[in-house]
Amino acid sequence: MIVLVPTMGCLHEGHLSLIRRARKLAGAQGKVIVTIFVNKTQFGPGEDFGNYPRTLKRDMALCRELGSDVVFAPSDKAIYTAGHSTFVVESRLAKRMEGASRLTHFRGVTTVMAKLFNLVQPDAAVFGAKDWQQAAVIRQMTGDLNFPVRIVLAPTVRESDGLAMSSRNNHLCAAEREQATVLHAAIRAARAAVKNAPAPLPAGMLRRKLTRLIDKQRLAKLDYIEFFDPTTLEPAKRVSRGTHMALAVFLGKTRLIDNGRL
Ligand code: PAJ
Repeated sequence: MIVLVPTMGCLHEGHLSLIRRARKLAGAQGKVIVTIFVNKTQFGPGEDFGNYPRTLKRDMALCRELGSDVVFAPSDKAIYTAGHSTFVVESRLAKRMEGASRLTHFRGVTTVMAKLFNLVQPDAAVFGAKDWQQAAVIRQMTGDLNFPVRIVLAPTVRESDGLAMSSRNNHLCAAEREQATVLHAAIRAARAAVKNAPAPLPAGMLRRKLTRLIDKQRLAKLDYIEFFDPTTLEPAKRVSRGTHMALAVFLGKTRLIDNGRL
């Protein structure tokens, strides 16, 4: 059995948890393949492709430590040969949330994942719940295009104060880092509101309440908060236990995302 863990490198505990999960899934006889590729087609103009952290040597050592069998870290030119002109587009789930804020983002993700599935031919691929919509879009593409790959989702790994681990946390200055806990605080506040409410809550009302909470942090600027069905990603008008929430917030120039089940 071949298990793929696709990453863009600068590995942290979130990535490492996926590699451990893959190792377990593959078993002693199977192979774990970690890919490290900062995929330019999923970055928009003006986004952080140029200064995305690249730490290949350290990443390779971590992969070895965790018992991955192969690290595949191709060059840009090897993946996008001159004249590359074919893209893979998921056209329903990819439209809202991250897709609305970052117009060509998911087109880049699904294109590179189709390439990696063809190159590696894995039996399973492990993704993090941290990027909930991404996993849903990739699962949809995998089914629609008949890739014989099982998509496995692993839980979000967090810092002790609740901030979801992300390579982009490295870009935060001390003050931004402190206020970045507001993403997880908003999810917890929504969870508490849903738990204490006698009936499903109108999404607009809950969104306004959480927006006020986020606005209190001087360095935080809300991009979106959405409530939706965890499987279909259909927006929820009323929010109750089991509804999923996702949000994106700028801390200075750094854009962070988080999500959770309410
Ligand atoms: P990257 O951001 O490097 O993330 C690689 C994988 O790690 C993704 O499945 C992501 O959801 C997971 N991950 C990131 N932070 C996590 C955390 N705190 N807890 C658990 N899992 C976490 O996502 C990408 O790269 C790219 O879009 C990729 C799928 C590799 C395609 O280029």
